[in-house]
Amino acid sequence: MKYFILNNGIKMPVIGLGTFPMRRLELFKVFFQATSCGYTSFDTSSAYGNERWLGLAQWISRKQREKLFFTTKLSNSQQREGNIRKALEDSLRLLKLDYIDLYLMHWPNPETYLKSWKEMEKLYEEKLIRAIGVCNFHEHHLNKLFSVANVIPAVNQIELHPLLSQKPLVNFCKKYNIQIEAYSPLARMNEKLIKNKTLIDLSKKYNKTISQIIFRWNYQNNIIVIPKTSHKNRLIENIDFFDFEISSDDIKKIDLINCDFRVRHNPDTCDFTKL
Ligand SMILES: NC(=O)c1ccc[n+]([C@@H]2O[C@H](COP(=O)([O-])OP(=O)(O)OC[C@H]3O[C@@H](n4cnc5c(N)ncnc54)[C@H](OP(=O)(O)O)[C@@H]3O)[C@@H](O)[C@H]2O)c1
Repeated sequence: MKYFILNNGIKMPVIGLGTFPMRRLELFKVFFQATSCGYTSFDTSSAYGNERWLGLAQWISRKQREKLFFTTKLSNSQQREGNIRKALEDSLRLLKLDYIDLYLMHWPNPETYLKSWKEMEKLYEEKLIRAIGVCNFHEHHLNKLFSVANVIPAVNQIELHPLLSQKPLVNFCKKYNIQIEAYSPLARMNEKLIKNKTLIDLSKKYNKTISQIIFRWNYQNNIIVIPKTSHKNRLIENIDFFDFEISSDDIKKIDLINCDFRVRHNPDTCDFTKL
């Protein structure tokens, strides 16, 4: 597995398995398939309702803890309730872990996010979490966070794929040494993406699938990806992008696909009471 180094020195795998919306036996089975294919990093959230199943699988697998990387998230409802310590303790219990590798705030709810961050910092200082970060933060959320933060987020997990390359935000995060992690990196296989001519041409040119072209584009841009799949052949396909290189001209061609198309909510316009 290859890693990027976070701003506090922690090594984070460049690809992880997205686990939403898998649950129960499906997730249990996929955990074992994924680890046998070489996945070491798993992305969940208390909002996904699947931590229990991921926890059970990792516990039964008896994999060496230090060889796995678990990300989970503080949900909006947990932020509203306001007991951040209890939220983390619940995740630790369900995941059957003593510590979380990366704890992310799921959304920048304007009413709670600054207060929640200060509580997350305390849990980080107590070493219950190896790194803390955020999701769905725009530049203005980060600027506001910087005004109260003692700890700069290690990661910003955002929707990112060729239809939504988020270049200004990516450059802003780079300036502050915040690692970008791309969720929905395949735009949930939206037609606009899979029928894109540039991607189809590059797929033929490099003899790789469109998914592999996208993951490699991210890797060469220092971006972590967390695709979700529950199929073994796709688990194998999605992790197989380390044996080729996309030329800088072709990277630029992929950059040009951007049309600011989202498959998930825009954090500036979403209704936090419903998320
Ligand atoms: N922080 C946040 O707010 C947030 C929001 C959304 C998602 N996430 C995280 O990001 C993860 C991934 O995002 P996502 O699930 O929204 O979208 P995604 O990974 O872009 O797309 C998942 C879809 O692509 C299919 N797929 C995966 N690999 C494929 C391949 N090689 N060929 C063809 N189809 C393939 C999957 O189908 P099959 O399963 O049938 O293969 C699934 O339908 C989530 O699981 C979650 O952990 C975070």
